[in-house]
Amino acid sequence: MKLHISTLITTILLCLLFVSIVESTQLPFSCDSLNPQTKSLKFCQTGLPISVRVQDLVSRLTLDEKISQLVNSAPAIPRLGIPAYEWWSESLHGVGSAGKGIFFNGSIAGATSFPQVILTAATFDENLWYRIGQVIGVEARGVYNAGQAIGMTFWAPNINIFRDPRWGRGQETPGEDPIMTGKYAIRYVRGVQGDSFNGGQLKKGHLQASACCKHFTAYDLDQWKNLDRFSFNAIVTPQDMADTFQPPFQDCIQKAQASGIMCSYNSVNGIPSCANYNLLTKTARQQWGFHGYITSDCDAVQVMHDNHRYGNTPEDSTAFALKAGMDIDCGDYLKKYTKSAVMKKKVSQVHIDRALHNLFSIRMRLGLFNGDPRKQLYGNISPSLVCAPQHQVLALEAARNGIVLLKNTGKLLPLSKAKTNSLAVIGHNANNAYILRGNYDGPPCKYIEILKALVGYAKSVQYQQGCNAANCTSADINQAVNIARNADYVVLVMGLDQTQEREQFDRDDLVLPGQQENLINSVAKAAKKPVILVILSGGPVDISFAKYNPKIGSILWAGYPGEAGGIALAEIIFGEHNPGGKLPVTWYPQAFVKIPMTDMRMRPDPKTGYPGRTYRFYKGPKVYEFGYGLSYTTYSYGFHSATPNTIQLNQLSSVKAVENSDSIHYTSVDEIGSDNCEKAKFSAHVSVENSGEMDGKHPVLLFVKQDKARNGSPIKQLVGFQKLEKFYKKFKSQPQGLPDFSFATKGRENDQYIITLYLAGITASNKLLRMSIVVSFRNI
Ligand SMILES: *[C@@H]1O[C@H](CO)[C@@H](O)[C@H](O)[C@H]1NC(C)=O
Ligand SMILES: *[C@@H]1O[C@H](CO)[C@@H](O)[C@H](O)[C@H]1NC(C)=O
Repeated sequence: MKLHISTLITTILLCLLFVSIVESTQLPFSCDSLNPQTKSLKFCQTGLPISVRVQDLVSRLTLDEKISQLVNSAPAIPRLGIPAYEWWSESLHGVGSAGKGIFFNGSIAGATSFPQVILTAATFDENLWYRIGQVIGVEARGVYNAGQAIGMTFWAPNINIFRDPRWGRGQETPGEDPIMTGKYAIRYVRGVQGDSFNGGQLKKGHLQASACCKHFTAYDLDQWKNLDRFSFNAIVTPQDMADTFQPPFQDCIQKAQASGIMCSYNSVNGIPSCANYNLLTKTARQQWGFHGYITSDCDAVQVMHDNHRYGNTPEDSTAFALKAGMDIDCGDYLKKYTKSAVMKKKVSQVHIDRALHNLFSIRMRLGLFNGDPRKQLYGNISPSLVCAPQHQVLALEAARNGIVLLKNTGKLLPLSKAKTNSLAVIGHNANNAYILRGNYDGPPCKYIEILKALVGYAKSVQYQQGCNAANCTSADINQAVNIARNADYVVLVMGLDQTQEREQFDRDDLVLPGQQENLINSVAKAAKKPVILVILSGGPVDISFAKYNPKIGSILWAGYPGEAGGIALAEIIFGEHNPGGKLPVTWYPQAFVKIPMTDMRMRPDPKTGYPGRTYRFYKGPKVYEFGYGLSYTTYSYGFHSATPNTIQLNQLSSVKAVENSDSIHYTSVDEIGSDNCEKAKFSAHVSVENSGEMDGKHPVLLFVKQDKARNGSPIKQLVGFQKLEKFYKKFKSQPQGLPDFSFATKGRENDQYIITLYLAGITASNKLLRMSIVVSFRNI
């Protein structure tokens, strides 16, 4: 009897357990094989092509059902067994919580938090970017398979060009170079969308998770003075559009096969992006062959009406968006106004059906209309992979390799653990783990403050916050000076946070806020030895004062380094890792802020003194250059070979410019095979030697420079970069690496000019290395 009761209780408990597991892991999917209705539904027949299935599905919907699906929170259609779907999720640098499709309220309470993108970009490591994308895609599925997601569409990456140093969202981007940004998009998107990506095509179109390139296009101003992104009209020249703002999106669509793009809030040359037929349909879909879905940025259709005053009535704006090619409205504007727009004959069902076709195609490609997704491809991705140890190691690797050493006078760094008895740590950013996350974050697997990571490296560690906050409206300079005076070494962890730069908040200044500079200088003056300054920031900061202050021996820039950033910094400071990151943006001096942020022109205008933007065009003074970054060791470079010397072209084209524009000729570069044979193809072999005393990983950057620059030519252009992965001093005697760069350039008939290839980096002689190739373009 006793036994019976306990068996019964066990059985009941097991049943309860089973029920609760089933309930908590109930996944939202259509075409459940247990549902007898399913077999009669053509759209559930997985053997048919997706286009046929979608057509069937859309044909079954009433107008009201159709309209209900045009917003990010798409409700269920119970009569067809279709569950609710949430289009909006975020995964900028790890599966995040900013959207509405992911919940961290179940057994999964966090995901791997990689460094903010600007720091990951500084690794110049395409393979790393790809592996990060893969982890994000796998963790996204893991969260889904755990029953904690009602969407698998992620609105990342942000691939707008970091055009102005004040931009609050520059931190989210891979920096200022369009080719590099395109390469980032390719690696990230391919990683997220799945390993079935092969040879430029997604096999059968299956998506592990869907990535979305944003914000299309020329979006890089949030809130500057009294101007905001909702009413900003970006005036962009055709040339800048063609070779700065659009190339990353073209790469994202053509080479990465992204399944989503987002149209931006701003207008471009008078037309709000989400109403721009030329942009969304002619360029993206027809010219570039885009076949995914297009979402608006959140409430962008309402913004089109209320802020841009584009469309007299809400129905007009709704019609503009649907007719331009936008498929989904993040918000509820289309839910409110599409019906009346149809009634008033401003929009026809053809446009609605097109949008639904694009939308349901994605849900089918994600495997959400094939019955239980856990029995499908990606169904076996275990929730236990979220925060897996190897994923967290990758977050650490990204932080280690992104952090940039900006100054290291007298080899102050690395510090010796044995010789550091007392360490003073000063700064508001040292004791705050939240700051390491940056924006569009999610709960990380685990993280520790920089201060905690440093404890253990010295016999005694003392801490003073110094500034009250990042704005440093007040600073306790005396207390900071007191601990600095008595310590062997001093590490100041200063810089910005999201109160200083963020979405809807651009900076007015480039210098450190409030009393930060004062505090740093006072501490440096009091310290026994030169101090170490760590800057956390997304955008560049004018730290000229520190660059030239001999009492500040070393400077490290650490972006917002993610969950493992504290450990990475401590390892670098104490020489367990040799930094190899390089700046992905130009660090301008404070004087740059006299240029209106609203001026979109990339190219300088000597007549008015407008200096142009980014390393490609800006010739003015810089605090630090694009591509700059030191190491604890030194590298020597040599050009091993470069071929060919004379380029013969079968076919000549004009430069990558726009029809009907006043053709500006310049050297444009692109990956081989991306276009056709009208380009000159080069390859350059570079030898690199570690001529110093310490192992290191090292990205090699190759630029091309046209000898006789024409009006509008870039000063130089990055054409390739490679990270030397295994680069040890023991190979010192033999040239290591030999990175092989292949790239192409365009010219016009009878052009002859010299292209100078050169490498930016730290050579033994501290000079840039150059080699010239004569290039002539001839018809044969
Ligand atoms: C988690 O949050 C979502 C969205 O708020 C909610 O629908 C769900 O019921 C929550 N789950 C649990 C286990 O609390
Ligand atoms: C400075 O920053 C703190 C913390 O973010 C904030 O509470 C305070 O209001 C800010 N002070 C000023 C003057 O902006």
